[in-house]
Amino acid sequence: MLILGVESSCDETGLAVYDTAAGKLLAHAIHSQVAMHEAYGGVVPELASRDHIRRLVPLARAVLGQAGRQVGELGAIAYTQGPGLAGALLAGAAFAHGLAFALGVPAIGVHHMEGHLLSPMLAARPPQFPFVALLVSGGHTQLMQVTAAGSYELLGETLDDAAGEAFDKTAKLLGLGYPGGPAVSRLAESGVPGRLQLPRPMIRSDDLDFSFSGLKTAVLTLLRGKEPDPQFHADVARAFVDAAVEVLVAKCVKALGKTGMKRLVVAGGVGANKQLRAALGESATTHGFEVFYPEPELCTDNGAMIACAAALALRRRSEIAQAGEFSVHPRWNLEEVT
Ligand code: KG4
Ligand code: ZN
Repeated sequence: MLILGVESSCDETGLAVYDTAAGKLLAHAIHSQVAMHEAYGGVVPELASRDHIRRLVPLARAVLGQAGRQVGELGAIAYTQGPGLAGALLAGAAFAHGLAFALGVPAIGVHHMEGHLLSPMLAARPPQFPFVALLVSGGHTQLMQVTAAGSYELLGETLDDAAGEAFDKTAKLLGLGYPGGPAVSRLAESGVPGRLQLPRPMIRSDDLDFSFSGLKTAVLTLLRGKEPDPQFHADVARAFVDAAVEVLVAKCVKALGKTGMKRLVVAGGVGANKQLRAALGESATTHGFEVFYPEPELCTDNGAMIACAAALALRRRSEIAQAGEFSVHPRWNLEEVT
């Protein structure tokens, strides 16, 4: 069956065509709204919704063209039902249900973080179940125990800011653009390790929870009253990245120890971070576990992960919602997905 995947939960419109019989992604395309939101220093929800509406149809045509398939060949339309910005989700859901209704095929609502979590399944070396998943994005920092697709148990999560949010806020304090993660990561490369020290929040707590808001405040304290100096800023970026990465890695190791698992999946925007990948690589060698990532182009939001999650849902669910009436879930707990 051919599944069209539609992602529109935030500032990227992502479309993809996935072939379940071949177990293969045939085509995918993303339109990023980053340039549009940049002037405002963050995502403006109303602008995001309007842009999704403009991009959905041309992108759907483009991916079908790339895949060499006709719209009538689609067997299901998968879309991000939540969590995310309500208006942005509605744009994708309305498009998906409209198309599914016209074609007489099911419309499958997918949890955005389930998409991220399963996105390494599209990689050349996909992980086997069970595994521990570290979900690190702009809105989430969670450790999940995954025994199978549709079986998600929360092991721990952030008590305040998400890791990506901490990167973005630190970027703002350092005068870098939006989104801040990649910019902070790049600047940190020219910082001197250890020259500045920042706390490692909750690193020794016995649970698998995180806290990143104190780290951002500590960055603010370091910068307060200082003259702008490029090397000092690079050292601050370095101290922040080292602290955030050390906490993330320590909690992953603890989660693997507690569950007795040997496979770790890392997904979500922050999973693209170079320093995090390097530190996890070292830790994997030391502690004897394997780490799995999505392909680099599928680390941020995309339609391929939504189509892939829907393909796995079709295999396990006997009842699939028909197109027509729909709702979106701007807030939605991944553990509720079955
Ligand atoms: O998963 P994602 O694309 O969207 C959400 O669902 O939130 O994640 C976006 C987040 C942003 O906070 C962004 O700054 C962060 O991921 N990010 C990074 C990197 N690339 C993206 N953070 C650190 N290093 C990166 N290379
Ligand atoms: Zn995301």
